[in-house]
Amino acid sequence: MRRWLVTGGVGFIGHHLTRALLGRGDFVTVLDDFSDAPYPTRLKRRHAEVLSREFAGRIEIVDACITNRETAARLTAGTSGVLHLAGLAGVRPSFADPARYSVVNIEGTATLLDAAQRAGTPLFLFASSSSVYGNATPLPANEDAPAIVPESPYAATKRAAELVIASMVRKTPAMRCPLLRFFTVYGPWQRPEMAITSFLRSAIAGKPITMFGDGSMRRDFTHVEDIVRGILAATDRAPSGVRPYNLGSGAPVTLSELVTAMGRAAGREIQIERAPIPLGDVEATFADISRARTELEWQPRIVLDEGLATVVKWLESEKA
Ligand SMILES: NC(=O)c1ccc[n+]([C@@H]2O[C@H](COP(=O)([O-])OP(=O)(O)OC[C@H]3O[C@@H](n4cnc5c(N)ncnc54)[C@H](O)[C@@H]3O)[C@@H](O)[C@H]2O)c1
Repeated sequence: MRRWLVTGGVGFIGHHLTRALLGRGDFVTVLDDFSDAPYPTRLKRRHAEVLSREFAGRIEIVDACITNRETAARLTAGTSGVLHLAGLAGVRPSFADPARYSVVNIEGTATLLDAAQRAGTPLFLFASSSSVYGNATPLPANEDAPAIVPESPYAATKRAAELVIASMVRKTPAMRCPLLRFFTVYGPWQRPEMAITSFLRSAIAGKPITMFGDGSMRRDFTHVEDIVRGILAATDRAPSGVRPYNLGSGAPVTLSELVTAMGRAAGREIQIERAPIPLGDVEATFADISRARTELEWQPRIVLDEGLATVVKWLESEKA
């Protein structure tokens, strides 16, 4: 019987992961502070209620901050692994509060890993980001790139957390620490401020969308079900020590291509209003996924058209 500590387990990706673990019979403790950023607490409360109702007796949800040492010590004891997804996400809002991003994403990660090391936890998995590659990394981005020119405080805190983990694990070299660099994750219950959900909501309501730049920015969109399978594969197959893995589609599309695909999915023509590219947005993300294919035996299964259909279905069901 496996028991996991999932931090951020009522957030977008975290609640899909928690559901997958509970669905296969594992026990889960969620640690989440129901943060009001970068989107309102209400959605997280909803995820907590649904999970608690469906999986009563196998889930415990603790409302606390990941920087709290006593809580971290209590909750890491006796777990099969810490799946650390909690954090402040989002490139653009990180410019408004870089200090809070640093505390949560860096100090929070060090606090949890320190507790996991003291408890003898065999696995510490970290949700990192494609943003660590910035604009300076040749594409497709490979995990061995130095990734030392972040374009936003968010990216810097994710890379800093990776480096803190790499340094701390020298003390416990047998510990398995996969660093999973997620590439723009979408799917049902995606964070409301992210492009696909907000664009499709507008499209379904017949409102124009705001596209940043001339539509040539490229993104490697990855469906949340593929990300969850990647996390599970890493818990099974990641080796001892620190090892970064890209989890992306490996097939980037331009924003113009995305809008065309969203129009197909929503069955509507999408009107576009243009705005300048915000500070911190990178020109392109494009994952080299050969390491995850070989070492984790993982590859994405959901192509963009199919993935967008899952989002449209969810948004339509919310309206009903
Ligand atoms: N969604 C993406 O495209 C994407 C891409 C790359 C990396 N990531 C990373 O994956 C993880 C999950 O992202 P998401 O999109 O599900 O975001 P999310 O905001 O929905 O989930 C993060 C969760 O962490 C919790 N949290 C925030 N601060 C906390 C604190 N101090 N203590 C305890 N909990 C706290 C939030 O309440 C939230 O539930 C994040 O670490 C994010 O940086 C996401």
